[in-house]
Amino acid sequence: MCGIIGTLGHADVAQDLLEGLKRLEYRGYDSAGIATLYNGSIERRRAEGKLINLGKVIEKEPLQGDIGIGHTRWATHGVPSERNAHPHATDRVAVVHNGIIENFRELRRELESSGRIFGTDTDTEVIVQLIHHNLSQGLKPVDATSAALERLEGAFALAILFAEEQELMIGARRGSPLCIGWGQKEMSLGSDALALAGLSNRISYLEDGDWAVITRDGATVRNTHGELVERAIRTTALSEKQMSKGNYPHFMAKEIHEQPTVIGQTLNTFFNPLDRSISLPELPFNLLEIERITLIACGTSFYAAMIAKYWFEQIARISVDIDIASEFRYRGTPMAKGGLALFISQSGETADTLAALRFCRKQGQHIAGIVNVSESTIDREADIVFNTHAGPEIGVASTKAFTCQLVTLACIVIATARVRGAISREQEQELSSAITEVPARAAEILNHDDSLRQLSNVLAGARDVLFIGRGASYPIALEGALKLKEISYIHAEGFAAGELKHGPIALIDQSVPVIVIAPSDALFEKTASNVSEVVARGAQVIFLSDSKGIAALGDQAKESIELPTVHSFVAPILYALPVQILAYHTAVLKGTDIDQPRNLAKSVTVE
Ligand code: M6R
Repeated sequence: MCGIIGTLGHADVAQDLLEGLKRLEYRGYDSAGIATLYNGSIERRRAEGKLINLGKVIEKEPLQGDIGIGHTRWATHGVPSERNAHPHATDRVAVVHNGIIENFRELRRELESSGRIFGTDTDTEVIVQLIHHNLSQGLKPVDATSAALERLEGAFALAILFAEEQELMIGARRGSPLCIGWGQKEMSLGSDALALAGLSNRISYLEDGDWAVITRDGATVRNTHGELVERAIRTTALSEKQMSKGNYPHFMAKEIHEQPTVIGQTLNTFFNPLDRSISLPELPFNLLEIERITLIACGTSFYAAMIAKYWFEQIARISVDIDIASEFRYRGTPMAKGGLALFISQSGETADTLAALRFCRKQGQHIAGIVNVSESTIDREADIVFNTHAGPEIGVASTKAFTCQLVTLACIVIATARVRGAISREQEQELSSAITEVPARAAEILNHDDSLRQLSNVLAGARDVLFIGRGASYPIALEGALKLKEISYIHAEGFAAGELKHGPIALIDQSVPVIVIAPSDALFEKTASNVSEVVARGAQVIFLSDSKGIAALGDQAKESIELPTVHSFVAPILYALPVQILAYHTAVLKGTDIDQPRNLAKSVTVE
């Protein structure tokens, strides 16, 4: 959840590190820090809060040097404060860390009893003290680090700097991602390729257990057994431009508005316009032989899985289990060999999703991923990956990645249904045509931005907001509630409309806006009855539907937004947009930090 960067560059490395940290701030933003080597000594600047505070500190007290490491933190152990901010350092070694050292208490006791004095509440400091201890036993930096790594339990990506070692940096990864950027007499380390976008486009990704000794001339990498290994250098297409807000006030707004384009890009990888068919890449398993599919993810990606369950079961006629990765990974679910386990993740680094993937591999499942970040861990560990083409998603609230995940899942469903004979050629064409309409219909929905912005006045004043829907609209209700709570901090819940009478309806009074997700589909009449029930109890209903739905029910609603009439198959993809826009404008009215909401980080790489 933290972002780390390290550079052996040219003079004024602190500015490069600050720029890199800006690109990493989405990973955590409760404090930040940079350490450089100047005349052989470790110099540090740290600040609590956003990166901008660190920038001000460095402006007042510039940091010199041509080698350095930097960190942006999402606190796990120790409150967010300057004292607990990374880099942690002694006069001989400085470390930035992403992950959690699980045996830090035991190591700390041991090091304290041998005389080391700790200055922070973090788990990370044991790494610094351990390496320092090894150095004072006479070990050279590389051996001192190697011996320390052997003692660490838990997850980490590290960048390590040593006093008097102007030409040396060490990087190590176990559990948390780390990559090396290759340049001309300039080398760098970063949590991901985004961090290095301004420094290098030639990237090699460390494998789990790798550690690398980096000098200005290159890097040597060893694996977990200490053997020298080669890690391929790839050229990335990421540019700094892709990571700017353009003319939008927030990344979230930009990402919402990119959806027609990126959905189209994602769709193009599957859709053949000549015969209106969907084709998947060559699969390392036979779809006909799959008896059960398990879909696993977290947060918004899990809601994509929920929608896919409706599609797989109704259209492809195959049983699907879905689960939240953090629950699944510890349940020890028995799985019949030869099933398909499909993991959905924007970042491809979510710790629980990754752990669930490794569990399923041990259970003899075929492993597939739907991943937005290429070369992420899930991307590399899955047997087959369906990449979404949403581009870098920087706002913490997931928007364009979600709709691209849905488009990808929809294509997989159609292809599965065809192979298994669950749909005819005509039905395939009907469903494929429906998906090809999505980019244009998404663009139409973006034209409702103004009316959704006005509606957000109703939400901004509310203490609680409910979202309801049935069938594949139910996960959209959950997603709408998640979006609203994560960026506006308003309490919101999503319910299956049919469940209201089993308890949640007790929450309803005149002060509670109820947002109804109700395309006119096969379940519309059922949802309509639920709307009448909440209206009878005084709820302020905000109705999201199409012209037919609004004609049937609009008079019961306080407000309605008319969305395009679309095939019910693709309605959940499109109905995601108005709930994103509503959450966005509500958060603008509340004045919250939309792209970096409190307590959250973009990729959850710790449990
Ligand atoms: O990178 P992933 O898709 O694996 O992330 C999963 C969740 O952490 C993520 O969707 C989270 O819920 C978002 N903040 C939701 O907007």
